[in-house]
Amino acid sequence: MAKSKHKKSEPVAGNDNNSGGYHTSVLLHESIDALAIKPDGIYIDATFGGGGHSRAIMAQLGSEGHLYGFDQDEDAHRNAIDDERFTLVQANFRDIKKFLRLYDVKQVDGILADLGVSSWQFDTAERGFSYRFDGPLDMRMSQFGELTAADILNNYSAEKLHKIFGEYGELRNAKTFANAVVAARETKPFEVIDDLKTLAESNVMGEKMKYLSQVFQALRIEVNDELGALQDLLKNSVDVLKPEGRLAIITFHSLEDRLVKNFMKNGNFEDEPEKDFFGNIKRDLKPVHKKPIEASAEELKVNNRSRSAKLRVAEKI
Ligand SMILES: C[S@@+](CC[C@H](N)C(=O)[O-])C[C@H]1O[C@@H](n2cnc3c(N)ncnc32)[C@H](O)[C@@H]1O
Repeated sequence: MAKSKHKKSEPVAGNDNNSGGYHTSVLLHESIDALAIKPDGIYIDATFGGGGHSRAIMAQLGSEGHLYGFDQDEDAHRNAIDDERFTLVQANFRDIKKFLRLYDVKQVDGILADLGVSSWQFDTAERGFSYRFDGPLDMRMSQFGELTAADILNNYSAEKLHKIFGEYGELRNAKTFANAVVAARETKPFEVIDDLKTLAESNVMGEKMKYLSQVFQALRIEVNDELGALQDLLKNSVDVLKPEGRLAIITFHSLEDRLVKNFMKNGNFEDEPEKDFFGNIKRDLKPVHKKPIEASAEELKVNNRSRSAKLRVAEKI
C-alpha cells in the first residue's frame, strides 16, 4: 500500500462553532431552531460527528431532557459529551427504532440528521474518502462495514459499475468509465486512491475536480448504502416521532434532497403522494417550510462546505 501523505492527528471534540477541530457544524442555528426544542423533551442527533449540533441541543435541554446521539464511526465516539442527559450509540441510524427500544424509549420529540461525511473523515487519508490524498480505497464510514471501494472496483460487473457511476455520480460518460475500470483491473487490481485517481483523470469529461468528486461520491454512496440508510431513517422516523415532533434533515446533494423532499411532502419517495384504498392522501408528516433552508451569506464566507447544504424540516401529524 502507498504511504499516506497525510498525518493522522487526534480529533478535537466539537463545540458551538467547531472550527479547527473535528468538524464545523453546518446550518447550526437554523437546524436547532427547526427542532423547536422542549427543555424536557427527548431528541435524537442521528449523525453525531464532532458533536457540534448535539452540544447546541444539550444547551437547550433541562434536567429532564435527554439526547441520544448516533454515529456509526468509532472515531466520532472520542467526542462524546460527558453528561448524564446524553447517550451515544455506535450504530447506523437506519436502526434507530431498534436501539430506542433497547433504551426503553417509545417516541421522541425531534430528530436531526446532518448527512454525509465529517471533515475529520474526509481529511483523514487512511479513510480513503478524498482524492486529495493517497491512501487505501476504503470509504467505509463504519469500521464494521464489510464492503470497501476497492471491493467494488475489483469485483462489480461493468453493468453494475455503469449504474453506480451514472446514478450516484451523475457522470456523463458513466459507461465508458465503468468499462475503463474493468479493463484496468485486468492488469492490476485497485488498491489505493492514486490507482482510481489516475484512471479517472484519463477519462475526465467536463471540469476535472468536479469529475473526480463525482467518481468518489458515487463509490462512497455505494460503499455505505447511503440512500438506503436514509430511506430507512425517514420511514422509521414516522414511528419514532411523537405527534408534532420535528424531523430536520440536512442534505448535501440532489439525490438525498429528492428523497427527503418527497418523503416529507408525499409520504413516499416518489414525485406523487401516496393514496389509500379510498383515494385519500396518506401522509404522516407535513413540511414546515415551502422551500429548503440554505446557508446565510455569513456562513458561506466561513464554511465552504455549507454551499451545497439544504435543510428540510417536517412535523409529525
Ligand atoms: C456531517 S457529519 C455530522 C457532523 C455533526 N452534525 C457535527 O456537528 O459535528 C456526519 C456524521 O454522520 C455519520 N453518519 C453518516 N451516515 C450515518 C449512518 N447511516 N448512521 C450513523 N452515522 C452516520 C458519519 O460517520 C459522520 O460522523
